[in-house]
Amino acid sequence: MHQAAGSIIRPGWRRAGALALLGATLLAARPSRAADAPDPAAGRAIAESGVLTGHVGCSACHLMNGAGQPDVGIPRLAGFTAAYLEQQLGFFATDKRASIWMAPYARMLTPKQIQDVAAYYAGLPEPPSVESDPAGDALRARGKEVFQKGNMSKGVMPCGGCHGPAGQGMGTFAPHLAGQSAPYLLEQLRHWHQGRQRDPMGKMMATEAHAMTDSDMQAVASYLQSLPAPGAGGAK
Ligand code: HEC
Ligand code: HEC
Repeated sequence: MHQAAGSIIRPGWRRAGALALLGATLLAARPSRAADAPDPAAGRAIAESGVLTGHVGCSACHLMNGAGQPDVGIPRLAGFTAAYLEQQLGFFATDKRASIWMAPYARMLTPKQIQDVAAYYAGLPEPPSVESDPAGDALRARGKEVFQKGNMSKGVMPCGGCHGPAGQGMGTFAPHLAGQSAPYLLEQLRHWHQGRQRDPMGKMMATEAHAMTDSDMQAVASYLQSLPAPGAGGAK
């Protein structure tokens, strides 16, 4: 069919037509870079009021400044890299990380909206750390020891080796922990300790938490919440 249609077009015109078609295809396949780039302003709107009428935005739980609600275990999002936030939102949306709280919100987002909202939260400066219970100095001292030295005889490696010496995280590989909500951290550690898988990146943490005592998990969570922000958000 193509050949029959082609044969009635003069050779010169046919080439010009093919080139025009090729040009149009290339243009369609390469939308401008700006339209593709994550847009923190669009992400801010999602944080503020969500993507569907009648639903709340992320800030209803994580707040606009990304501080979360440490006391009730809602994690802070400021301080993470955009790559980690995108990765975890992808896990929630595809049920690779189970959470009755996060699944509906993550599923509402298109891949572009995930990039936008991740760019918004990753670009925020970190809020000051919340002082945990002032009576907990001894607990935090033990937490510091666990963080820096692990418990090698039990096979618990130093946390700082993967999460960075100041708990600042290492890109998508190991998340930012400094200043994070202690109840949130403790819950994650206890789940891994009990042998529950969190998501495809969590195998190392399952091994790590398996040998930890509950008091060491409490200690390290309390220490991490008290750690100051290692730097402005996103720049890791
Ligand atoms: C109804 C409250 C609520 C809303 C709204 C909400 N979240 Fe969450 N979010 C949570 C809770 C609770 C967790 C902890 C889940 C867990 O225990 O695994 C969480 C976890 C997360 C995590 C994982 C953090 C980590 O340290 O691994 C990310 C990323 C996240 N939320 C982003 C968002 C974004 C972006 C939105 C808006 C599109 C949003 N959340 C809306 C409650 C909420
Ligand atoms: C061998 C590397 C490695 C070591 C050592 C390690 N971690 Fe992790 N940690 C990871 C990785 C990878 C993840 C991401 C897991 C995921 O996405 O499921 C993680 C995630 C976590 C999280 C979840 C954070 C969040 O925002 O949801 C906590 C809490 C945590 N680690 C605490 C610790 C503590 C405490 C120690 C030391 C006792 C430690 N880790 C040692 C690699 C490590």
